[in-house]
Formats: sequence, C-alpha cells, structure tokens
Amino acid sequence: MSSATTTASDTRQPAVSARALVKAFGLIRAVDGIDLSLAPGRIYGLLGPNGSGKTTLIRLLIGLARPTSGEARILGTPMPSRAALARIGYMPQGEAIYPDLSVAENLAFFAALQGTRDGAAIERVLDLIELGGRRNTPAANLSGGMRRRLSLACALVHQPPVVFLDEPTVGVDPALRVQFWAHFRALAAAGTTIVVASHVMDEADRCDELLFVRAGQVIAHGTGASLRAEAGTDDLETAFLRFSGLGPDGQPLPGLTASGS
Ligand SMILES: Nc1ncnc2c1ncn2[C@@H]1O[C@H](COP(=O)(O)OP(=O)(O)OP(=O)(O)O)[C@@H](O)[C@H]1O
Ligand SMILES: [Mg+2]
Repeated sequence: MSSATTTASDTRQPAVSARALVKAFGLIRAVDGIDLSLAPGRIYGLLGPNGSGKTTLIRLLIGLARPTSGEARILGTPMPSRAALARIGYMPQGEAIYPDLSVAENLAFFAALQGTRDGAAIERVLDLIELGGRRNTPAANLSGGMRRRLSLACALVHQPPVVFLDEPTVGVDPALRVQFWAHFRALAAAGTTIVVASHVMDEADRCDELLFVRAGQVIAHGTGASLRAEAGTDDLETAFLRFSGLGPDGQPLPGLTASGS
C-alpha cells in the first residue's frame, strides 16, 4: 500500500477496515481478498470498471451482504451489526426511496429508522438538495436527478460519522454536483469519513485518496498525485490502466505487472 495512506490520523481507530475480505457468487469472486484501513475524516474514492466489485465491497463493509470469508469493521465494530447502522449512511447505486411517500415523508421515515426525530436535520438536508419547495411532492413525481438528490439526503439525514455513496452524482446536474462535493468536503472537515464509488474522473480528483478496484482487488491506493507519479502519467484513467498492466489503448503493456501497490 502506498505511503500516501500514512497520515497523522492513522493513530486513531480506523473508521472502516477490512481483513482478507472475500465475496464469491458461484465462480465469480466479486471481492477477492481486500484489506483496508481507512482513516476518519477523509474522502476515499473507489474507482474501477463495471463489475469490478465496488458495490459488492460497499455492501460487505456496511454489513448488507455477508462475506464468504474475512471480516469488515466500521468504527471498530465487526459487521454486520444492527447497532452500527445508526452510525452509517448509505446511498445505494439503485433507487432506494419510497415512491408513494412525499419528499419530506421519505426523509422523516429514514431519520426515524435511525432513531432521529430532529426536524432541523430534515430541513438542513432539504436545503442541501434544494427540494424544500417540493417537500410535499410524492417521490414518484420527481425527476430522475431529483430522486438521486432525495436518496442522498436520506443517507445523510441522521448525520452518520461514516458515509458510503455509490455513484451519488449520476444524473445530477453540474451545478448541484459541485455543491454536493462542497458539502462532502465540509462533512469530512467535521470528521465524517466518506467512501464514494464513482466513474467520474473529475470527482475522483476531489477525493483525498483513491482506491483502484479491478477484478475484486484493490490494485492501487494513494492520493491522486501519488498514483499519477507512480504510474508516470498526469491522466488518472491512464494511471488506472497502467496499474492494470495495460497501455492507454487498453492493450497489455509488456514488462508491467498487474499490481501497482
Ligand atoms: N447478487 C449477485 N449475484 C451474483 N453475482 C453478483 C451479485 N452481485 C454482484 N454480482 C457480480 O459481482 C461482480 C461485481 O459486481 P459489482 O456490482 O460489485 O460491480 P461494480 O464495480 O459496482 O460495477 P458498476 O460500476 O457497474 O456499478 C459482477 O460480476 C456482478 O455480476
Ligand atoms: Mg456498482
């Protein structure tokens, strides 16, 4: 693992950790032996192609799926743990809001699930997603991007210290995307740990550290700058391919191994 992961906060308990984590679906090893130790108050980006195991890794880390072997912990608690759920925010890749409930009802429902009845917290996330004017609109009647915004708000409404966002800005317009990232940065500055899966390279650059995921494994981990330097390129996509042992054209590079860490 890259030295970029060694920070002052490493002396504290990791917010997220995994040891030899494996998830097999029949012959497919969607997660194939991942070790992690993520420090509190940082934003981590999971980058990797379709089917590389990002969503499965997130589901294992938060205890939504049971590992075939290995262990995941959130704030020191082995997962799955019902008690730990109140300390986790999760925005899934797919739709996870109730279409028949209004915007405000969805938020109140998710807040209540986590034991929060804080009306001010609901107003804060409504402001963030700019849907205050639509609070009584059934979720089914929102646009696709608005539903993504509501889904994000549902993940954040209980102010969890560890947040997992699976492609949070897909379908969100550019201006709001920038606001989302400003909010993620503010949350991290206040100590929240954020793990975000993304395919968007300019978003990747907003993360403190990146984890390149390929075929169920973390093939490289470090800051964007350290990964670029190690791969000898300014372009993150090319860096990913280099760590995969591939050239910019996606063809195998002679003499480079598939592991960059
Ligand atoms: N419930 C399941 N049953 C069988 N196979 C699964 C299941 N969930 C995921 N997989 C397989 O595990 C692999 C990893 O899938 P995963 O959804 O974790 O990838 P991903 O990196 O999130 O991809 P994407 O970028 O498309 O979201 C894929 O081969 C997928 O088909
Ligand atoms: Mg996914």
